[in-house]
Amino acid sequence: MMKFEYYNPTRLIFGAGSLERLGEVVSKYGKKALLVIGKGSVKKTGTFDRAVASLEKAGVKVVEFSGVEPNPRFTTVLKGAETAKKHGCDVVVALGGGSVMDASKVIAATVLYEGNPKDMFVRAGSGKMPRLPEKALPVVTVPTLAATGSEMNNGAVITIDDEDEPLKTFVMAEALYPRAAVVDPELTLTVPKNYTAYGVADIITHVTESYLNNTEETPIQDRFAEGVILTAIEYGPRAVENGQDLNARTQLQWASIVALNGWVQVGVNAPYPVHQIEHAISGLYDVPHGAGLAVVNPAWMRFAAKHNPDRFVQFAQRIFGVPVEGRDKLEVAMEGIDRFEEFLRSIGCPTRLSELGIGEITEDVLYHWAEKTLEVLCDEEGRLPGVPPLSKEDIVEVLKMAI
Ligand SMILES: [Fe+2]
Repeated sequence: MMKFEYYNPTRLIFGAGSLERLGEVVSKYGKKALLVIGKGSVKKTGTFDRAVASLEKAGVKVVEFSGVEPNPRFTTVLKGAETAKKHGCDVVVALGGGSVMDASKVIAATVLYEGNPKDMFVRAGSGKMPRLPEKALPVVTVPTLAATGSEMNNGAVITIDDEDEPLKTFVMAEALYPRAAVVDPELTLTVPKNYTAYGVADIITHVTESYLNNTEETPIQDRFAEGVILTAIEYGPRAVENGQDLNARTQLQWASIVALNGWVQVGVNAPYPVHQIEHAISGLYDVPHGAGLAVVNPAWMRFAAKHNPDRFVQFAQRIFGVPVEGRDKLEVAMEGIDRFEEFLRSIGCPTRLSELGIGEITEDVLYHWAEKTLEVLCDEEGRLPGVPPLSKEDIVEVLKMAI
């Protein structure tokens, strides 16, 4: 296990019916809330009205900012920050999925950022270090989807959209921790089957990104990660089958938080190569993040297992009960990956690039995606951090395995 320091200041209010407490929670942090939502599904479900009622009952004024798109854009964030400034908002409430929560965090930081807010994002390929935000308006997250775990962490993924070509990158900063997360699994009962399944793929990938990266002697972290994966595998199909299954929705919602509030990753190498490769694709083509991960993760696993079979043997054995005795390690590892891919397919996730609807995928296209990946994150030798580190050619090889 590696040395670590852990800090997560987000107050977590969890359970069915928690939305009623939103006003009480937000009123601790501000009197005028920028209420950030996506394209309006929270209005159709009545969640928006209930959130506003709770806020107003607690004496919190509401300024609506709607229209945050999936794979949220930098220019949208700028508009949100302008709206917050214009109306003098002193707290930001994120009511939606990962896109809304990530946009809200960056809006909250942009309001108080000195200089060009674009400088806060990671662009390792440029050789420039990000200038992290040091403060932000308080944020309260209210997730309506079990997936990104953004409700209780310090990260945000944003697509820079005002340059020649979109670039999906990220920021991680202490100032971005939400003050509180009001997590009400009832809000996820109306999530359609496909997005429920994409959420499951996202949750599992958040923990495989650390689990499969080879830090020695991490028994507790391993079992945390396995707990998240096994829970997602048990309850994911139930939620896909019957969206109204509140218990399944509750377990998934909790799994999404545990997967990425930092607890599973402490003391473990967690470089997130699958996310970086996926971001290059979803940034360019607006693919749902979880769908992209369901395609890239098994492909990356097949590549990485050859370099690092022991971890994959453990994954195969402990998650899928693959027999190990007297068998070749790589054979066991590959069987585990096959089983994982079958699981993703069984809940309705795509597992091939051709299923993402992004047109012809030539060698040149794959190299372009690899370059976009490395533009965001690379080590001093220009490789994507991970086990193994991936050169441009390696990324292309991974992507070819997903065709
Ligand atoms: Fe993710």
